[in-house]
Amino acid sequence: MNESIIIIDFGSQVTKLIARRIREFGVFSQIIPFNQVTRNLLSNNFVKGIILSGGPKSVHEKNSPKIDDFIYEQEIPILGICYGLQLIAKQFGGKITSSKDREFGKTQIKLNKKSPLLENVLIPNKKVQVWMSHSDKISIIPNSFEKIASSDNCEFAAIQNQKKKLYGVQFHPEVVHTIGGKKILKNFIRNICGCSGKWNMKFFKKKIIEDIKMQVGKDKVICGLSGGVDSTVTAALINSAIGKNLICVFVDTGLMRENEGKEIKNLFQKNFNIKLKVINSANNFFSKLKGKSDPEKKRKIIGKEFIKIFEKFALEQNNVKFLAQGTLYPDVIESLSKVGKTSVTIKSHHNVGGLPKKMRLKLLEPLSELFKDEVRLLGKELNVPEAFLNRHPFPGPGLAIRLLGSVNEKNIKILRKADSIFIKLIKEEGLYEKIWQAFCVLLPVNTVGVMGDNRTYEKICVLRAVTSIDGMTAETYKFSDEFIKRCANEIINRVPGINRVCYDITSKPPGTIEFE
Ligand code: XMP
Repeated sequence: MNESIIIIDFGSQVTKLIARRIREFGVFSQIIPFNQVTRNLLSNNFVKGIILSGGPKSVHEKNSPKIDDFIYEQEIPILGICYGLQLIAKQFGGKITSSKDREFGKTQIKLNKKSPLLENVLIPNKKVQVWMSHSDKISIIPNSFEKIASSDNCEFAAIQNQKKKLYGVQFHPEVVHTIGGKKILKNFIRNICGCSGKWNMKFFKKKIIEDIKMQVGKDKVICGLSGGVDSTVTAALINSAIGKNLICVFVDTGLMRENEGKEIKNLFQKNFNIKLKVINSANNFFSKLKGKSDPEKKRKIIGKEFIKIFEKFALEQNNVKFLAQGTLYPDVIESLSKVGKTSVTIKSHHNVGGLPKKMRLKLLEPLSELFKDEVRLLGKELNVPEAFLNRHPFPGPGLAIRLLGSVNEKNIKILRKADSIFIKLIKEEGLYEKIWQAFCVLLPVNTVGVMGDNRTYEKICVLRAVTSIDGMTAETYKFSDEFIKRCANEIINRVPGINRVCYDITSKPPGTIEFE
């Protein structure tokens, strides 16, 4: 593995997607915050290319992130994406114009000049769909550059200076909605930077197991299990590294899906030889959440309670120093920016932003560099059964964030029942594996209905089902009319407390997958 790509991060929500795309091409990549790039780092012979990420700032803002000119003097190929493109253009004497109208979402681009970056993606006279998300754009291209692609709204959608090996795109090749986006990145990594591509998940597993051994030594680790893929793979991974020094804990919060506890016990007893402690704490969670309806507060209360329980349990054991969590990269990036404080908090994932400031246990988060689909690949390497790897993701704070508004046991039971019916019907229809995540949400308002000869005044259940590759972007799943009506009927008929069912058709962005 003697080649790497440096991604200079300006705080985009999707920077890590660039890193994982590059890993898919078998090339090691490192994300470096824009203010931590040194000459030393780049003088390393292994660095074959640099990518400048997007970011939420405008190059015109006073304190907008910048990079030093020495980056351009290394003769290392550079690709700027969105903000990265604008920065290159500005630093080479071009002009960037701000516009009040954001260009956001899918748009079509066409080829203006042949380029190694766009090879086999764009051909003359044929438009291709890309994903844009910007309000600034290049209005005057720097002298030494040429336009290689454009759209109706954006004259300089892609530019190049082939002599200096500098390239830039206004759109985001790293997101799945850009058709041929992977190919563009691959053209850059393989053809322009000349990387050969030998990195893979087997290699990552070996490295990460060594890292865990180094970090933990002879101490013990407790690992919170939620029934989801992430915590299961985390436990399997740590088990491979430290064996009997791992103790898994399943906290029954009362906020789990139907049969969750039973399934977890089965898995860990049948498939793994891992110690499992079950702690029943449902009453505690319900009392702490009583009357709290602000989603961020709910997440933080749940995070805090989890930690309290884990710390208490750890104290009762001998020599436990670490708390392991299945935190993934999207959880980290949406909770807080670790890089240059430039990205914006979307929500506090309970296992990241919801943690108390002071904790006795050190955190062990071996998956924090990975995306969900990569975790599934890693799970396969670790022999985690397919049935568990293919389960739909479930958030740490559980049903509490799908019961909008304040949480109480009665409504959680209603929600859990509706959710189990929806999932059962999806499985019976053979759709479960085609969908990234499907679930029910209960709205905190009552509506009037009529059942039999009686008036009802009950809750609304929202059905949500999305497709996604990595949870960063998502599209709604299109059920047939007949199927969705069957779900609505069955839920209303079988779940007292619900008299209306709606289907959510919001993609991410602008929505999130969960409601809170
Ligand atoms: P959003 O709602 O942010 O969700 O679009 C993206 C993915 O993350 C899951 N999610 C969470 N997972 N702790 C978790 O472990 C959390 O607090 C949390 N919140 C959201 C969500 O279910 C989806 O798969």
